[in-house]
Amino acid sequence: MTSLDHLFSAAEAARKKAYAPYSHFAVGAAILGADGKIYAGCNIENAAYPEGTCAEAGAIAHMVMAGVTGLAEIAVVGGPVDKAEILCPPCGGCRQKLREFGGLAAKVHLRDAAGVIQTFRVEELLPVSFGPEHL
Ligand code: THU
Repeated sequence: MTSLDHLFSAAEAARKKAYAPYSHFAVGAAILGADGKIYAGCNIENAAYPEGTCAEAGAIAHMVMAGVTGLAEIAVVGGPVDKAEILCPPCGGCRQKLREFGGLAAKVHLRDAAGVIQTFRVEELLPVSFGPEHL
């Protein structure tokens, strides 16, 4: 198993924990932190819809709680609950969160139902972005 396979396995396991009774769309994310460890998260929805949180946010929260504030890579898998994954690009808010902790060069790996992996840099997903160096 490659290190990327490990990252996707962790994202898949996280996706199984998704709490998504409203959208019925389950997402899992797994970060490779600057310490070499994996931090995962799932989406957690809420009856007050805007209070729901994305899988990427959960993974980042786990990483920061472990004392790590830098990420090198993240793998994201998502799709309808109990169905095969579809390509699940991070939402705009999550792109900004990844930019905070991963910088422009961090890699975002996505996988479609056929198992094809697409990799983007944060800079491609969020061009001309606002970041810590602007403050
Ligand atoms: N979702 C994520 O967890 N990450 C994303 O980047 C895209 C969307 C979640 C939010 C919501 O619980 C569900 O997917 C449908 O939008």
